[in-house]
Amino acid sequence: MKANESPISSYLEDRERAHAAALPRRFCVEWTSPANIAFVKYWGKKRVQLPRNPSVAMGLLQSRSMFRVSGMLQETNRPSLEFMFDGKKNPAFRERLQETLKNIGTYLPFAERYALEVFSGNTFPHSAGIASSASSMSAFVLCLLSLENHLLERRKDACFYRKASWLARLGSGSACRSVYPGFSLWGRTREGSGSDEYAVPLGEQVHPVFRGLRDHILVIGSGKKGLSSSRGHALMKHHPFAASRYRNAFLNTGRLLDALRSGDVEEFIRITESEALMLHALIMTSGGNDLLMRPATLEVIEKVWSFRRETGLPVCFTLDAGPNPHILFPASAEERALEFIGTMLREHCEEGLIIGDREGEGPVQVRESYD
Ligand code: PMV
Repeated sequence: MKANESPISSYLEDRERAHAAALPRRFCVEWTSPANIAFVKYWGKKRVQLPRNPSVAMGLLQSRSMFRVSGMLQETNRPSLEFMFDGKKNPAFRERLQETLKNIGTYLPFAERYALEVFSGNTFPHSAGIASSASSMSAFVLCLLSLENHLLERRKDACFYRKASWLARLGSGSACRSVYPGFSLWGRTREGSGSDEYAVPLGEQVHPVFRGLRDHILVIGSGKKGLSSSRGHALMKHHPFAASRYRNAFLNTGRLLDALRSGDVEEFIRITESEALMLHALIMTSGGNDLLMRPATLEVIEKVWSFRRETGLPVCFTLDAGPNPHILFPASAEERALEFIGTMLREHCEEGLIIGDREGEGPVQVRESYD
């Protein structure tokens, strides 16, 4: 397959081959998959979960979701799914998984032959305000795709992860970036790299200065977000600044990719902070009466700016669609940055909660058995 070509036809061929294979009576597969934080934001979509602009993100090391999917072959095609999160039933997320199963079931129809039991949990506290949909959908898809891979007698190579990214996108857009280690790009750029249908890993293209980039998440507000990302994406449809936002995001993606390749930390900081503020400016001006930053978010931002001005150290911030700042810095600035966070920023966090994270190594398969 050529770069940027849609892989759908080969996925349909896989479907036919998997359909003809003998299904195991029982299977059990477990993966853990990381959350990811975007530097250029995905905000606005078209058609089936395709992004209106490319985005660039980093998968984390510690903040992960675990999914164990087991299945028992049934006589009839009556799909069933039980879902437990942290040992308890969770009907709302079960519904999301069922919806995802319907979407990806077109490509993995064998999944419907099983009575599925799904156990999941997160490594980060439930109250941390870190979205777990990306890590969860990615782990869920990796479990089901492992079964297909088993049926097709394939290795888990680069094509496996690309397909996982493609399918995870159908569950939750940003989940497509959670199937890789480190930095990834989702969306076709003006320069012709990337694809709207799946994310690609940036791997060795990233300059060593960004390797192991730290991301310390300050938990300022842990309550449920006032704005779901699906509503946020929908509000972009008639947003007065949509056209200029998308133009700008394309430009920022090109510039950020250049900065990541050349090791230009100042440019990385300029674009990353501007993207975070732009996301929130879009949210505030979308007409939905949403304002997700809290007074403490602004205090933290001002402290980060003063610290950088006074010390010249490359410490910056980004924000997701919520109030919690992610403080980013390279490994070389760790000692001073941690001291700054501990003495100046911790006071803004709920019960002093900070999640110390960094560039991660991607999803990990924990178990796989068939009989
Ligand atoms: O994947 P979704 O639909 O939850 O959207 C994610 C949107 C942001 O987290 C705000 C930005 C991003 O690119 O991750």
